[in-house]
Amino acid sequence: MKFRIFSILGVALCGFFAATATPIAPIELKESQELEPRFAPRPYIFDPLPKLSDFTPTTRYFHFELKVVKLSPDGFKRPVWSVNGQYPGPLIQCNKGDRLVIRVTNNLGDPATIHWHGIFQRETNWYDGVPGQTQCPIPNRITFTYNYTLEQSGTYWYHSHFLAQYVDGLVGPLIVHDKDDPYLHSYHEEYVLTVSDWYHSPSAPLLVQRVAPHYTGGNPYPDAALISGVGQYNCSSPTADYYCNPNVPPPTYNVQKGKKYRFRIINTSAYAFFTFSIDNHPLQVIEVEGTPVKNAKAAKVKVLPLHIAQRYSVILTANQPIDNYYIRASIIDSCLGAITNETINGNSSINFNATGILHYHGAGSKKPTSTAYPFTFPLCQDLNANAIRPYKDSPAPNNVTDKFVFSVTFNLNDDDVGLLGINNSSFVPTLNNPTSQRIMLQENFTDFDKDQNAYGYDTPYGCVQITLFNNQTANHPFHLHGHTFWIIASGPGVTMANISTSKYNLKNPVIRDTTIVPANGHIVIRYIADNPGVWAFHCHIEWHVELGLVAQLFERPTEFSNRTLPDDVRALCMEYNSHKKQKRLTTLPRDSMVKGMQLLEK
Ligand code: C2O
Repeated sequence: MKFRIFSILGVALCGFFAATATPIAPIELKESQELEPRFAPRPYIFDPLPKLSDFTPTTRYFHFELKVVKLSPDGFKRPVWSVNGQYPGPLIQCNKGDRLVIRVTNNLGDPATIHWHGIFQRETNWYDGVPGQTQCPIPNRITFTYNYTLEQSGTYWYHSHFLAQYVDGLVGPLIVHDKDDPYLHSYHEEYVLTVSDWYHSPSAPLLVQRVAPHYTGGNPYPDAALISGVGQYNCSSPTADYYCNPNVPPPTYNVQKGKKYRFRIINTSAYAFFTFSIDNHPLQVIEVEGTPVKNAKAAKVKVLPLHIAQRYSVILTANQPIDNYYIRASIIDSCLGAITNETINGNSSINFNATGILHYHGAGSKKPTSTAYPFTFPLCQDLNANAIRPYKDSPAPNNVTDKFVFSVTFNLNDDDVGLLGINNSSFVPTLNNPTSQRIMLQENFTDFDKDQNAYGYDTPYGCVQITLFNNQTANHPFHLHGHTFWIIASGPGVTMANISTSKYNLKNPVIRDTTIVPANGHIVIRYIADNPGVWAFHCHIEWHVELGLVAQLFERPTEFSNRTLPDDVRALCMEYNSHKKQKRLTTLPRDSMVKGMQLLEK
């Protein structure tokens, strides 16, 4: 199995790097003589967030250079698709009301886009970063500038939305402060912490296998669990002759006894549901995905469940004896699909339980002896709603104007590729002619091809309701772009008969932007049509995105089509469509292995 992956990897890497000066063959990954650069410089991630000077709205400029570098987050060296050579990428920190101007120079050798997960992009839908929906991909060697204003605050992240690039490392935190945050004075310092699954192979060859005809083995199995981009790998697998360091120092966060710390926790995984905890330290949840939550007893949790793309802020009180304590981030393998003989990387020697250290000043360097909290909640499901009721009462709207019923579906195409879809249709982006630009040319959503999964609604400030059924045995974390939503129902059952509308919670439902639709279950969500544009609604398991589990929601196209597209957004498409030096894709190929391999050619 390993052999198969890496033989394909050989082809893939040559293809990938052909556009840059030196082609890199996989054998070059074997550099056992070379000294381990411990990890890439990430000046911020184990330090308290630097304080911003004040809350006066300002414009903040960032320059992202996208480039492939070799890093070994868990000790195993591999090419990493990075922002500025870092994994996780650089911290963006700002205030509500700020304008962000982020100049992205793409030197990856592949096209790319950057999505700002959870950011509303009101009036700037074209900077949402979704290829084929809101923009054309940024070709290699081209610079494109994202430019938007923040009307919200909280814990967000950015990631590539092109193919599975974010699985290769193209992710980073985006933190927005707010002078009116009700918890602003409830902690002394704050930290960012990411949890993630991690693969030793670049995503492209994994993806080619995942979308191959006749494949039934489920999603590629990860090789490691990381905390803030650092993991420990035992280097014992058949590929251990690649450069591998089994002794990566544990990720360590420092605290001082008597102080309180806000941890902003982000799951940046491709596939994995995580639990997170810090021994001996219950965590008070204060924010879910930008929405402050009530200071209730239920908000004190010992173990926090997080699925992909979900975020929480918690307050940790450093009131325990001065010592070292384990920080634990565990992939719950029972929430992943079962491994079969066919499963890509199914013989991975992953340690599901990443550990880091909460180090009290003065504790010395001995290993923690602390023990883990037990789980007391059902796995593969969202945190109990009572722990995350909105701080300000915010009843859901009850005047629904537009209703959609979606089902997660599985179907085999003519090439016997097992695709996922919304209502039996697998989404295929049209990379060179993005939806937002077609809407601006007055194209009606009913004119879009079936594989565009286009759904529209035009009522200004209407209330949209989406009922989503999942009759599969696996859970799916669904994310809606451009909005937060009220979750008015969530539970078992995959037909309308399982939903009792009289049991909808309209009074104090959870508000967030990413939620789990449980296996053999459903969710019902509502949101306000206050943001004209085209917004993706998709499962955030990256392998499922590539199998088509995506819908496009055309929000108020009448109004949106009257807006003026910035010149640089239009110019980017002209650039993409004329780009000679690299292979230009019009759609992401997934119909067959052959087409899949074309993707890797430049
Ligand atoms: Cu993190 Cu389409 O999103």
